[in-house]
Amino acid sequence: MSKKGRILTGHRPTGPRHIGHLVGALQTWAQLQDSYECYFLVADLHVLTTDYSHPGQIQENTVAMVTDWLAAGIDPVRSTLVLQSAIPQHVQLANLLGSLVTVSRLERNPTYKEQVQQLNLQPSLGLLAYPVLQAADILVYKGDTGPVGEYQLPHLELARELARRFNQLYGETFPEPQPLLSATPRLPGTDNRTMHTSYGNAIYLRDTPEETAQKVMGMYTDPTRLHATDPGHVEGNPVFAYLDTFDPDRDLVEDYKQRYRAGRVGDVEVKRHLVEVMNAALAPLRERRTRLASRPEQIVELLRAGSEKARPVAQTTIGESMQRMGLTLAAEENRTQTGGSPAPLFGIFC
Ligand code: TRP
Repeated sequence: MSKKGRILTGHRPTGPRHIGHLVGALQTWAQLQDSYECYFLVADLHVLTTDYSHPGQIQENTVAMVTDWLAAGIDPVRSTLVLQSAIPQHVQLANLLGSLVTVSRLERNPTYKEQVQQLNLQPSLGLLAYPVLQAADILVYKGDTGPVGEYQLPHLELARELARRFNQLYGETFPEPQPLLSATPRLPGTDNRTMHTSYGNAIYLRDTPEETAQKVMGMYTDPTRLHATDPGHVEGNPVFAYLDTFDPDRDLVEDYKQRYRAGRVGDVEVKRHLVEVMNAALAPLRERRTRLASRPEQIVELLRAGSEKARPVAQTTIGESMQRMGLTLAAEENRTQTGGSPAPLFGIFC
């Protein structure tokens, strides 16, 4: 079957994945593998833009994240796993594209502004250039489709601008990557804030059924409801957001909602049902995860093999980009290396 296009998407390896990642991204990615050629990127260089003082954690977090990806159905045979730091062409293209965007354009990026405020530190060049590297991640494989969360849209917009600008200046080279927004609403954390590792409100794919039960039983519900006989609110109540996501029995969910609104069912009963439903839904994924987690060296090998497969594609793009930008001598070097027989560039001079 011919594919609809080429996807590049990814995450920063910030640690194990939670059910928010699963519902918001990984399930979609797994499905897209049927109809798109997919590159899944471990954006480890991007981690350094905000968190460069914990060098001991990146490798461990990478293995944990990719283990969860595979457990969630990312298929390293059909798709390509890419380790960003293992493919220098990402940085090379980011550098080339860097001249095509102004500093003030990057300073206007809402994600950047927010992070500068939140982190309360002097922004680094790396943080400012974050979306340029992200654009390079996509364009170096000529990705034409980007399934991203809403908060990533400004980054994708910059990738589109850079592709357009490059094409205008040097001729048609890059597709303008189209956003593919997730149809599923974002899953709240157990305290009803955004689910986030640093908030302590996440349920992880690696959590045991018991840990899941404990987290669900302690979940935020309707704060206005003091007794099970009080009428309750379903909207804005994470217990029901989770039921909507994980319970395949729509009629039963409707029934629970009606009884909750009418004050005819208690929080504990609904939560017990949710625990059962979630543990059943997550069981196959957890089984795969346990098997994968026992062989971390296999994960590293898959990343190595995927990056090996991706590198020549990236190198071809660099050759073409350099050629078009006038760096013709090095462009030749990049082009011939992909062909298999490396021709030493400076051989002709000495
Ligand atoms: N910015 C993304 C995140 O925070 C990670 C990322 C890096 C990415 N490069 C990308 C996502 C390219 C999509 C496409 O998780």
